[in-house]
Amino acid sequence: MADASGVLRISPVIPVVTIDDPQDAVPLARALADGGVKIIELTLRTESALTSLKLIANEVPDILVGAGTILTPAQADDAVAAGAQFLVSPGVTPALLTSMLSLDVPVLPGVATVGEVMAVLESGLDSMKFFPAGPAGGPNYLAAIGAPIPHVQFCPTGGISLSTAPDYLKLPNVSCVGGSWLTPASAVAAKDWGRISSLASEVAALGL
Ligand code: 3PG
Repeated sequence: MADASGVLRISPVIPVVTIDDPQDAVPLARALADGGVKIIELTLRTESALTSLKLIANEVPDILVGAGTILTPAQADDAVAAGAQFLVSPGVTPALLTSMLSLDVPVLPGVATVGEVMAVLESGLDSMKFFPAGPAGGPNYLAAIGAPIPHVQFCPTGGISLSTAPDYLKLPNVSCVGGSWLTPASAVAAKDWGRISSLASEVAALGL
């Protein structure tokens, strides 16, 4: 169940979303789904993130909602209890990886070096988040990792935009990318759900 390869095949871009006001959670998720993006990585970076997560999990059944920014085993437990359907971490420690793997949801651990990729492989996972993708080396770095380790699939995230996403998506070891640009803070503050649907449509058009 921990394998996240199915999670990486839902959309060419996984929106990385931070929500301050839980009242925005359901309309924001519906806006993404209306635009054709049926997945959200909801970051645990706000006090009310678990409330938003629960609302989306219960009220927007056509979207797969996962919890991102998992830093501790307790956060992983709390996220799954709130309805998270997958877990994403920016990096891993042995304790966090063991804890996430004990839960019954797909796990996408973050890596940025070849040694970290190898450590996660030892745990049995071959789908990983590459973070922070731009500063850590971008598409050239991922292409280089693909030579010795071709069987790992990545979701690069961090510093990616609509215009740079294709540079990653064309790589054989990239299934999808992640990014926060689909849900700009200004659009959320203005409750401009039409803008978010339109940004989602652009992404859906990239194709897998
Ligand atoms: C993440 O948590 O994955 C990043 O904060 C997203 O990075 P971006 O804002 O550069 O897309």
